[in-house]
Amino acid sequence: MCPPRNFAVEYAINAWMDTSVPVDTELAVKQWQVLHDTIVELGHDVSVLEPVAGLPDMVFAANGAFSVGGVAYGARFRYPQRSAEATIHRAYYESHADQWRFVAPSVVNEGEGDFTYLPGAYGGLILAGYGFRTEPSAHSEAQEALGRPVVSLRLTDPRFYHLDTALAAIDDENVVYYPGAFSESSQAVLRQLFPQGIVATEADAVAFGLNLVSDGRNVLINAESVDLARRLEGLGYRPIPIELGELKKGGGSVKCCMAELRADQ
Ligand code: ARG
Repeated sequence: MCPPRNFAVEYAINAWMDTSVPVDTELAVKQWQVLHDTIVELGHDVSVLEPVAGLPDMVFAANGAFSVGGVAYGARFRYPQRSAEATIHRAYYESHADQWRFVAPSVVNEGEGDFTYLPGAYGGLILAGYGFRTEPSAHSEAQEALGRPVVSLRLTDPRFYHLDTALAAIDDENVVYYPGAFSESSQAVLRQLFPQGIVATEADAVAFGLNLVSDGRNVLINAESVDLARRLEGLGYRPIPIELGELKKGGGSVKCCMAELRADQ
């Protein structure tokens, strides 16, 4: 994670960003801190990156790499405004070389923004999005780097420009997703792979409810996503609403703030 001390909306590279809307950076930091402290209180280890001036989107740490089983596949950002972030994430993995092998990417991909991993599905399955940011050729590169099957899913709605805005692993083997964010064929693929998949509504997705982080029981979810939280509770999960209204102005929420470190799964 990376605190949003330099967070701002200085450029617009997704449908949510509007440079004319003011951002309260102090409030963003306070909201982020609650997310950080909640994760720590749940017993998870968190590494914090030092924010860098001139990189206002660095708070969205999920985009810096994608890791599975001790291998970190690096990011290469679509837009020049964010490209320096990849080097910072790379330095993190390389400075913990006892735990990580870093694989440099040759094509554009935005890390966990467009990749997710389900250790309990089909022996360990990676889902990957493309259409707005990540190049589809990064999916096969990730498969080679990580040695797990990668299923490509095409995103079609610009509001849901990263996979993690439209789909989340709710536990080790199942997903929650908004079908309307995907092409018809990709929806069929998701139905085939996840017959028990939890289907979210457009309202859930617009409330950034799919941009959640779950440890299999506790589900950190954007506070605006009330309906989805209630449904997840009915299914036996424990939703924990997190208020991240300032970061939403940058087009991100809970999941975007976290790169999951899968050192040994
Ligand atoms: N402003 C950032 C961008 O457009 C938001 C990134 C959100 N991150 C995510 N994992 N969806 O690149």
